[in-house]
Amino acid sequence: MNKNTSLLKINKLSKTYNRQIIFQNLDLVINQGEWIGIIGKNGSGKSTLTKIILGLETYSEGEIYLNGQKQEHYELRQWMQNIQLVSQYTRNALDPTKTIEKILWEPLKNFRLVEKANQNLRIKQVLNDCYLPEKILSKRPRDLSGGQYQRVCIALALLVNPKLLICDEATANLDKINELKIIHLLKENQKMSVLFICHDKNLVNNYCDHIFFLGNY
Ligand SMILES: Nc1ncnc2c1ncn2[C@@H]1O[C@H](COP(=O)(O)OP(=O)(O)OP(=O)(O)O)[C@@H](O)[C@H]1O
Ligand SMILES: [Mg+2]
Repeated sequence: MNKNTSLLKINKLSKTYNRQIIFQNLDLVINQGEWIGIIGKNGSGKSTLTKIILGLETYSEGEIYLNGQKQEHYELRQWMQNIQLVSQYTRNALDPTKTIEKILWEPLKNFRLVEKANQNLRIKQVLNDCYLPEKILSKRPRDLSGGQYQRVCIALALLVNPKLLICDEATANLDKINELKIIHLLKENQKMSVLFICHDKNLVNNYCDHIFFLGNY
């Protein structure tokens, strides 16, 4: 892993909704294994930028490269395997009707990453990485504590081994202990780059390699 090798490169990105300019000429580079913090006021375009990077939102101008290859040259599925999102904790990210086992099994099936015989092993590895006990597999999302719920969301994102994880206020609404638990578990994965969107400047200062300010700050 080399923190000088660029993973994601954004050149002169501009976004407007109707006639409202959200941002213009935005340049951003995320190197391998690097944590980039994004700070910006409400409405400055942080989540919009997230959606664009995920390939779920269009943009007016600019280019986005992953490992030197333009976004439009990737298939959406391949792009989404490389870049995963964990959003703000609101208790609506996980399907309430399914067990955690079913929820975690789905990306493995959809991305066809792990052979059937090894899927259970992969799920157990990721649970372990996220400090979650195996007994939660038979539970449903409503039976989990807030911290467990958000760690299942992270487990779901990590299952496909993304190169970049976007945390869009992923630890907001959690208590400090659970917030730090989540940040520390992500820090253990040193190969993964993280785009860390957070309103807590101290956290961003403490855990990110670089900080990017969006809008007039
Ligand atoms: N689908 C949409 N259509 C039109 N305008 C939108 C759309 N999504 C977002 N906007 C506008 O774009 C601007 C940026 O929104 P965005 O959600 O990216 O901000 P944010 O920085 O994530 O804010 P917050 O800190 O509140 O999460 C806002 O003015 C918002 O109203
Ligand atoms: Mg937002």
